[in-house]
Amino acid sequence: MAYVNDSSKKAKPFDLLLENSGYKDLRTAFDKLLLRPLWWLAEKGKSSRIKPFLRTQRARDMEDYLSLSDYKKTISKSIRQAERSKAPVLFEHPVNNTYGICVPLVKDEKTFGFFGICALKAKPRHGTIDVLSGYTHAIIDEISKDLELGRVYELVRPRAIALSTVHTINRLVTSILDIKELFPRIARLTLQILKAERVRICMVDKYTGALGCVAAVDYRKSKDLFKIRTKPSPTECKVVQSGRSVKKSNFLCVPLVDEEMCGTISVRDKVGKKEKFSIFDREILTTLAEQAVIAIKNAQIYKEQEDLTIGTIKSLGYLLDAKFPRAYTHTEFFVELMVELGKALGLTKKELKILHYSALLPDLGKVVMPEEILRKTKALSGKERKILKTHTVRGIEVLKYLDVLKPVVPIILHHHERYDGTGYPERLKAKDIPLGSRIMAVVDAFEAMVCHRPYRKPLPFRMAVSEIRRQAGKQFDPEVVKAFIRIVKIGRLEELVRKHPDELKKIT
Ligand SMILES: [Fe+2]
Repeated sequence: MAYVNDSSKKAKPFDLLLENSGYKDLRTAFDKLLLRPLWWLAEKGKSSRIKPFLRTQRARDMEDYLSLSDYKKTISKSIRQAERSKAPVLFEHPVNNTYGICVPLVKDEKTFGFFGICALKAKPRHGTIDVLSGYTHAIIDEISKDLELGRVYELVRPRAIALSTVHTINRLVTSILDIKELFPRIARLTLQILKAERVRICMVDKYTGALGCVAAVDYRKSKDLFKIRTKPSPTECKVVQSGRSVKKSNFLCVPLVDEEMCGTISVRDKVGKKEKFSIFDREILTTLAEQAVIAIKNAQIYKEQEDLTIGTIKSLGYLLDAKFPRAYTHTEFFVELMVELGKALGLTKKELKILHYSALLPDLGKVVMPEEILRKTKALSGKERKILKTHTVRGIEVLKYLDVLKPVVPIILHHHERYDGTGYPERLKAKDIPLGSRIMAVVDAFEAMVCHRPYRKPLPFRMAVSEIRRQAGKQFDPEVVKAFIRIVKIGRLEELVRKHPDELKKIT
């Protein structure tokens, strides 16, 4: 059923009958049975154009034959008769006493054409006519089923694609919350679904109201090309203003609409030189745009929420620092080293982000510690140490209500566990300790050693590194220590220390 996949051309029963292999077999069989009669056909509405089946020598003979106006008249008469009765008609040519048969082609009680044979020297039997007519009807039934199947396919296909688009974008909604990652993903997905060469997503700036490109992919140049420095076209601006989609043969643009107009998504150049965008493509792109808006809004809200939470945590850190410098917060050096160590251990972007957040305020729980413990420069008593150790648990009590920071809770809770299982609060051992906590333990210890303290001088860089190495398998995870040593060997750690000299000295 080659025609089923070609939405641009609607298959006609008349053409399908001629292409049908069963019908070709029928003609071969009757050619033998009736001693090679002449075959003719006439499409409904074009009955005056009675044509031979094939342009063969015999066909040309037939054209000559048909050029006789009185023979045409005989066939035309039989056609009219067959149309009325919807049954085959046997006719006789009055001039040369030959016979012919006219079979109406009927589908759903409507006649769509006629075919027949003529130039028969002997009068055909009724049985022959019945077989010819019955076989033709069987083939038309088969064609009708194929046509129905094709119609259903054409009806279902865009909806199936639209449904699968909804499903795919829904997956994006739940899996990608990073807006910077989301735009190129939607762009590439659009190219894949619409089978286009170019795509561009433009968004309205919520402060200036200007339309700007946020993602553009041009597959004609490179599969990986992703550029946003393209200007929106006048058509895209028009789509945003009017809220109406635009469809041209090689261009499709639909608005991205939430509560208000928020942008456009447009595709250009259908893959395959002669292919054009169809109304189904517009339907699919519209569905895609509707789902994309949900994904974009979701990611934007998440980003705003994240920015707000992180901003609040940072502000809290600054406020606490003003009262007790570095009692609750750590240095920028601490944050950077955490991320650097995470990278050395092959953490994903998402994991690095969580690690970064966990480094912002790991000792937040100290807020509820008695001030005298925090101010104390002498050694703490057993009771005081016990109180101080609760800062991990108290810290997560504050953070667990902030959705964005939920993944950092285990890291902060266990950052004083030891690899050998002698740490706190749960005496977790080895890999039972979250990786983020194992990283933080190393960074926390290193920072403490190289920072100035009122009661001791900072340890020289090399000695601090040796101490970390010495504690591998005891206080620290040997794998994390290995990654730490790698950073030392490439000079990255020293670079970070030099980057923050004042900050490390300022620790009181
Ligand atoms: Fe701590």
